[in-house]
Amino acid sequence: MMILKTIKEVRELVRQWKKEGLSVGYVPTMGALHEGHQSLMERAVLENDRVIASIFVNPTQFGPNEDFDAYPRNLEKDYALCKKVGVHAVFAPEAEELYFPDRSAVVHISGLTEVLCGSKRLGHFDGVCLVVAKFLHIIHPDRAYFGQKDAQQVAVIKRMVRDLNFDVEIVSCPIIREEDGLAKSSRNLYLSQEEREAALVLSKSLEIAKNALDKGERNASILKAAMLSCIIQEPFAKIDYVEIVDGESLESIHGEITDSILIPLAVYIGKTRLIDNITYEI
Ligand code: PAJ
Repeated sequence: MMILKTIKEVRELVRQWKKEGLSVGYVPTMGALHEGHQSLMERAVLENDRVIASIFVNPTQFGPNEDFDAYPRNLEKDYALCKKVGVHAVFAPEAEELYFPDRSAVVHISGLTEVLCGSKRLGHFDGVCLVVAKFLHIIHPDRAYFGQKDAQQVAVIKRMVRDLNFDVEIVSCPIIREEDGLAKSSRNLYLSQEEREAALVLSKSLEIAKNALDKGERNASILKAAMLSCIIQEPFAKIDYVEIVDGESLESIHGEITDSILIPLAVYIGKTRLIDNITYEI
């Protein structure tokens, strides 16, 4: 497996692959890799002749009071996982390789980024769109793989790719969970043992919504109330948001649910902000 640090090396490698007529899959990550990232890589390996992953803790998507400095970094372990699953190349640039100190470009997707995590983490999706746009320009993959764990991110990236005519297929992959239901996340590393237990309240509340939907409940307010009452019983949990939205437009659904929905939530467990979601097809 190749480890690349410069844009030039990546461009040369991908140019060579394309010359040989090989298809290219791309998996963007911030490292601290776990089975969630692994599932994206495995799918990319299955569906493409060559796979490149990026590992880059992107400073522009972290707010001033967020966990950029504390974000877990373990490149050697990450490289080993990429190699194990058959990734052909990893692009792990330094921030100076990607960002000019006097950069002026902004990639802003309006509307979709003003709700849910976007309304709580101001500027977050501008940072995500900027870095993903840069990686897609540098790599030019045929397909790029994203996890449904970050459902809003998938919707925003799909909109960016559509509106700006990027020539890439965005593939959305299912959420990988721990055996007890907690969605895998690099941020789970922050949790104490007690908080790890408490964190189950996210998946539990989604399970409550799913069971109610299975039984025929179609009133969004009733579903939301059932989820909220589950979460507030957990002393370590502080709700950031719980919503019921259209999966593509991310517009809130009030009253009767008539179509497929996304139920995303963000909850602080102690100081750690965790997100999770389910989609439900009516
Ligand atoms: P990161 O949080 O490292 O996640 C990289 C990819 O792995 C994302 O597409 C995310 O949705 C996916 N992922 C994380 N946990 C998952 C799980 N439990 N199941 C399935 N997929 C999971 O998301 C980012 O990095 C960044 O914003 C990035 C797109 C790399 C831009 O900097």
